[in-house]
Amino acid sequence: MNTSSAGWPRHVAIIMDGNGRWAQLHGLPRTRGHEEGAESIAAVLRVCREVGIPYLTLYAFSSENWVRPRTEVHCLMGLLRRYLRSREKELHKHRTRLRAIGRLEALPPTVWRELSRVMDATAHYTERQLILALNYGARAEITDAVRAIARKVRRGELDPERIDEAVVTGHLYAPDVPDPDLLIRTSGELRLSNFLLWQASYTELYFTPVLWPDFREGEFRAALLDYRRRHRRFGGLG
Ligand code: FPP
Repeated sequence: MNTSSAGWPRHVAIIMDGNGRWAQLHGLPRTRGHEEGAESIAAVLRVCREVGIPYLTLYAFSSENWVRPRTEVHCLMGLLRRYLRSREKELHKHRTRLRAIGRLEALPPTVWRELSRVMDATAHYTERQLILALNYGARAEITDAVRAIARKVRRGELDPERIDEAVVTGHLYAPDVPDPDLLIRTSGELRLSNFLLWQASYTELYFTPVLWPDFREGEFRAALLDYRRRHRRFGGLG
């Protein structure tokens, strides 16, 4: 791999954290925090289009989020459904392909139907991709890949000696998407929380105390400029 001074990232991944704390800070129900968070997604997408960042992956619902109170899970699923319906026009307008990664079969059927409908309707766009991680966990993703590979070995389609990193990558949820160049986490937590563990091996990390609903154009541009100042070595001396 070459060393390179970072230009703009091609792929940005974001852990959108802090919606609940934002709501609490403003004396509002947690659900309002999630709604404001959805506005931050629009802001970040705008900057991606302006700058020319083709891939954006958002951690919208982790496989661990199901343990939240039923009402909050219900609210998040409802918000997601409404989001898909209300933003579809915009996805078409900006020729953005919507994709999802995660164990999608466990999503409520109404959400799954809406999601697959919008994914199908935008599948032909190649300029930009918005990738939602839903019921996503990186360990589950790697486990699913291992299981798929093992099945191929059992069927005699794959020689175990030929299993290399490219084969593993090829069995992840979105194998054609390049690894993220920049991973952002808001709200001051300094963890990856089971997000893109395989893909983020060489990703630049950016942590900010700003809560997700407050993470708008200016905050995102600051993260991008910080990234551009970095020198990526990919394990070399550079
Ligand atoms: C973390 O905040 C955020 C989430 C668990 C969900 C993120 C969802 C959205 C931004 C909106 C819905 C998404 C789409 C795609 C429409 P938190 O609740 O963990 O905040 P806290 O740590 O302050 O409690």
